[in-house]
Amino acid sequence: MEHHSGGSGTNKNKQMVEQLQRYGVISSKKVVEVMETIDRALFVPDGTPAYVDSPMAIGYNATISAPHMHATCLQLLEENLQPGMHALDVGSGTGYLTACFATMVGPQGRAIGVEHIPELVAASIKNIEKSAAASLLKGGSLAVHAGDGREGWPEHAPYDAIHVGAAAPEIPQPLIDQLKPGGRMVIPVGKIFQDLQVVDKNLDGSVSIRNETAVRYVPLTSRDAQLKGY
Ligand SMILES: C[S@@+](CC[C@H](N)C(=O)[O-])C[C@H]1O[C@@H](n2cnc3c(N)ncnc32)[C@H](O)[C@@H]1O
Repeated sequence: MEHHSGGSGTNKNKQMVEQLQRYGVISSKKVVEVMETIDRALFVPDGTPAYVDSPMAIGYNATISAPHMHATCLQLLEENLQPGMHALDVGSGTGYLTACFATMVGPQGRAIGVEHIPELVAASIKNIEKSAAASLLKGGSLAVHAGDGREGWPEHAPYDAIHVGAAAPEIPQPLIDQLKPGGRMVIPVGKIFQDLQVVDKNLDGSVSIRNETAVRYVPLTSRDAQLKGY
């Protein structure tokens, strides 16, 4: 939580979203709406500046991604996050994006987070319970599971939207398999030099891949490697 002057948390969250619009990061009305609805301050550890446009440490060698990356990914996935659709958030960390996805797909849809650090799963559920997505968690359309996200979450596949919040050396095949024809995955790929890749599954099952932008994420790896500091 922030305690500086300049308005309440909710107002400051709104100001952060307005700034992302001014900088041209967000042009979509739906992304504005969802980022205004889900207050980022509820997802960062106490004492962490919530609205600064930078990634922040959340423990366990993990980070919450920067607001401009959240906005970019939401915008790339917007068409695949319509009411009733299914979304998978791999490496869900704080649960922030999972909560945004759940809000966009609504109670008839499904948003699943998969995170391999059980303590982060537990913390993310607490975060979501404080947020505007709490009723979706209670109603069962939003869930966060502990597991290796490289395997996806077959139970609710296929997905219209898959977001991966950590950089994979290459795109895991189970995630491609769990993408619906017409579905889209956004995934950072690479080791030191990484690209945010947009993977579209065509109706014939083939995939088209393009690079959106250069990025820097923590690796999508094993829990042991992450806890050892990679
Ligand atoms: C950049 S961080 C968090 C991103 C999340 N979108 C957020 O903003 O809170 C990436 C997350 O991926 C998780 N992670 C890394 N490898 C994973 C794996 N194989 N399976 C599941 N989660 C993984 C890390 O523990 C970390 O929480």
